[in-house]
Amino acid sequence: MKREIIKTLDGSTTIRLPEWDECYHSKHGAIQEAKHVFIKNGLSLFENPISILEIGFGTGLNAFITYLEAIRKNQRIDYVGVEAYPVDADEILEMNYADELEALEFENIFEKMHKSEWNEKIEICDLFSLTKRKQFFHEINDFEIYDLIYFDAFGYRVQPELWSTEIFQKMYNSLKPNGVLVTYAARGVVKRSMMEVGFTVEKLTGPPGKREMFRAFKTVQMNNLE
Ligand SMILES: C[S@@+](CC[C@H](N)C(=O)[O-])C[C@H]1O[C@@H](n2cnc3c(N)ncnc32)[C@H](O)[C@@H]1O
Repeated sequence: MKREIIKTLDGSTTIRLPEWDECYHSKHGAIQEAKHVFIKNGLSLFENPISILEIGFGTGLNAFITYLEAIRKNQRIDYVGVEAYPVDADEILEMNYADELEALEFENIFEKMHKSEWNEKIEICDLFSLTKRKQFFHEINDFEIYDLIYFDAFGYRVQPELWSTEIFQKMYNSLKPNGVLVTYAARGVVKRSMMEVGFTVEKLTGPPGKREMFRAFKTVQMNNLE
């Protein structure tokens, strides 16, 4: 599918798929969205070492911002990014995230993330490991290993099958008890699919340009844990 690189309203770049009129991030601001949805409403709930699953590694923006948080908070993070269609190296060169995040001293880390082998756990530094898994979302069969999921698939409008109970059941299974899933989405049909597989769903204020977003909890009753 044809792809083009555009600038979003906060100055950060993203990739756009003209045939679908769909972007990898919000047109209102890629960095703003990533920080609001995944860091403020996801990662910041956790202080201890955690493991994260990202649905759609894409440009690596979420992974890079999460790495910067790991360094800032001195928090150990094991990060798994699943992606079936890796972004080309020449497209990655056009992403301006290190610059826009005022993190030019870590630009080599962004490059290292992209150059690292697929399907291998790479220690990016002693606080952050990255496993890029080249697979389809429906092939995920992890069981209770993640504290947090960044659910960052393309929108329901273009890929409704990725917002189905089948996929959310896999997400639920892969989270540890009391794990959390965050996503930029806020459609009723998405909430119903999440609730159907057992998630408790709350609506939060969305990032600039989007009114709302969801956060879902795998809330497990104490007597289920015994
Ligand atoms: C919204 S973008 C992810 C953006 C990414 N989180 C970032 O920070 O750049 C959605 C991603 O899902 C990938 N994708 C789409 N369908 C998929 C599928 N069925 N299985 C695995 N990856 C898929 C796309 O290639 C794309 O990279």
